[in-house]
Amino acid sequence: MQKNNKIAFLGTGYVGLVAGTCFADKGNEVNCIDIDKDRIEILKSGKIPFHEPGLQEMMIRNMQKGRLTFSTLDEAKLEQYNVIFISVGTPNDSYGKTDLGKVYDAINYIKENVKTSKIIIIRSTVPTGTCSAIQSIVDEDNDINHIVCSNPEFTKEGDAVNDFLNPDRVVVGIPKGKEIKAFFYNLYMPFISKEKILFMSNESSELTKYSSNAFLATRISFINDIARIAEKLNANIEEVSNAVGMDPRIGPHFIRAGIGYGGSCFPKDALSLVNQANEVGESINVLEGAIKTNNYQILYFLDRVNKYFQKNNFKKKVTLFGLSFKPNTDDVRESRGVMLYNLLKKEDFSIRCYDPMNLKFISKPIPYYQNIEDSLEGSAALIISVEDEQYKNLNFKALKENGIKAIFDGRNLLKDMTEELEGIDYFSVG
Ligand code: UDX
Repeated sequence: MQKNNKIAFLGTGYVGLVAGTCFADKGNEVNCIDIDKDRIEILKSGKIPFHEPGLQEMMIRNMQKGRLTFSTLDEAKLEQYNVIFISVGTPNDSYGKTDLGKVYDAINYIKENVKTSKIIIIRSTVPTGTCSAIQSIVDEDNDINHIVCSNPEFTKEGDAVNDFLNPDRVVVGIPKGKEIKAFFYNLYMPFISKEKILFMSNESSELTKYSSNAFLATRISFINDIARIAEKLNANIEEVSNAVGMDPRIGPHFIRAGIGYGGSCFPKDALSLVNQANEVGESINVLEGAIKTNNYQILYFLDRVNKYFQKNNFKKKVTLFGLSFKPNTDDVRESRGVMLYNLLKKEDFSIRCYDPMNLKFISKPIPYYQNIEDSLEGSAALIISVEDEQYKNLNFKALKENGIKAIFDGRNLLKDMTEELEGIDYFSVG
């Protein structure tokens, strides 16, 4: 029989909100807490501050059942929860090192507001050794025996609810000598079978998270290196990656060639892992290469656009499809589309952008249309930066009539449709 927990989440971004809502859905009593009062207001009104399919419905259902509540730091009564998850952001500083400021703010908040022992679970992605360091800090309060555990998340934006409800594995780091497994079995067995809940040291758990993301990023960069070679050697990268991926030792996922990976995780975590290695006098040559490839891939693609325009002497007017970092998200962090926009601007292109989402810009917003037709007006070429399936259904005849001379497909979406492109020049990656 599942014992329901009283869980607090500090941090209501993608990580905290998805996990908190899913735990509430399995009967736990969950309070999601944030320093950002406006965000808490939005959540209390039953809305979510970003796009995540299925999340809002589940959130409202659990709010109505009284199992899911939201609080500002002042309103929260942290002491009444037996479990405290930390799910605040851990961005990199300008040197690629993880900035743990918000994590330590959360720890200080716990120290100030809690006087009895709790299970503190670090869900944010933190460098290896952080949980042990936090354990030492909370141990300074002699009469309170908090247990600090690591429990990284592996959900993908756009499919996060489904990923959380159906995990491949649950990774749990626990401090030496602490009897805490029964708690985690109880918490996660509504989602996954017992043998897929993997217990290890906090350090192993922290490093697992970085290794997973870095490995996936490396696969993408590897196939992108091969894609450029394929192009020069007259091979077709889609045929190659399809065949390579059918080897069960390799598998078909994350070997899709294109203009590189973006998002809030891969670029940041890859850099942080390189940094962590350097700090202990090691280097991860493969990963450093993967980062280099990812930086180069977009320049390679840009060069192709530039050369085409120089050769044909067209007016430098283009349409860019996709500013989010991947389909089905409103997140533009480290998005290849935004990078392309900025690079094209520097090359004096006039750019009209299209994106179907209500985008969440963090710094300066980029103007964009939510209507394809408007975005195409006056452009000589179309650039695709996101693997959005809807672009396969474009009316290519109309595109041509509207003056589109070329399509630069940064995600190889239309690669097997070249016969349907009405003679528009087509450039893919590999
Ligand atoms: C990623 C991890 O997948 C997830 O497990 C982790 O918890 C957070 O980071 P996410 O950032 O949401 O998730 O995006 P993901 O779907 O992994 O895509 C990342 C980037 O890689 C996107 O820019 C995507 O376009 C690119 N990508 C993905 C490729 O270029 N090729 C591929 O084959 C797959």
